[in-house]
Amino acid sequence: MSDLRSLIRTIPDYPKPGIMFRDVTTLMGNAQGFKAAVEGMAAPYANEKIDAVAGIEARGFILGGAVADRLSCGFIPIRKKGKLPWKTIGQQYALEYGVDIIEIHEDAITPGQRILIVDDLIATGGTAEAAAKLISRTGGLVAGASFLVDLPELGGLDLLRSHGVRTHTLIA
Ligand code: PRP
Ligand code: ADE
Repeated sequence: MSDLRSLIRTIPDYPKPGIMFRDVTTLMGNAQGFKAAVEGMAAPYANEKIDAVAGIEARGFILGGAVADRLSCGFIPIRKKGKLPWKTIGQQYALEYGVDIIEIHEDAITPGQRILIVDDLIATGGTAEAAAKLISRTGGLVAGASFLVDLPELGGLDLLRSHGVRTHTLIA
């Protein structure tokens, strides 16, 4: 699969005017594309100890579950506020187009566990930064963060790296 980029659909002015929305559902719907994406996102971590993937709702669940299977580790959901059934801790963050809160179950991570963050896309980095804070607050160690798409002009990777988080992306 040489050109993952061509499998991504761009939708202008969604969900707000001025946003070029990178729609990865078209890539996920392509068998070769999905397989290549999952393999590429997991590969940098294949030879190290990862205890769990933390996938960020919603598209991070799809990729994160598959990456966790590849790495033979567990999966932890990081969800939008009010969606998890047990006791949670939350973290507010700013988006390219708004403000939101994500949550994790307070007992999802055993202190010292090495956790890999997975999401479909990093833009400003606000979501992934909040995920990293949640993992740290529950006692986990952020082993890295793997994304299918980076929007470089929004500086998300630099933000994560400023916190010492190792990052990998497949497409810019
Ligand atoms: C998208 C994307 C990331 C986040 C990246 O999710 O899947 O989670 O934005 O943006 P950031 O780097 O600026 O924080 P979105 O908030 O659209 O939620 P959804 O997956 O539930 O649609
Ligand atoms: N999340 C934040 N910005 C986005 C964009 N431009 N496309 C898809 N998801 C996003």
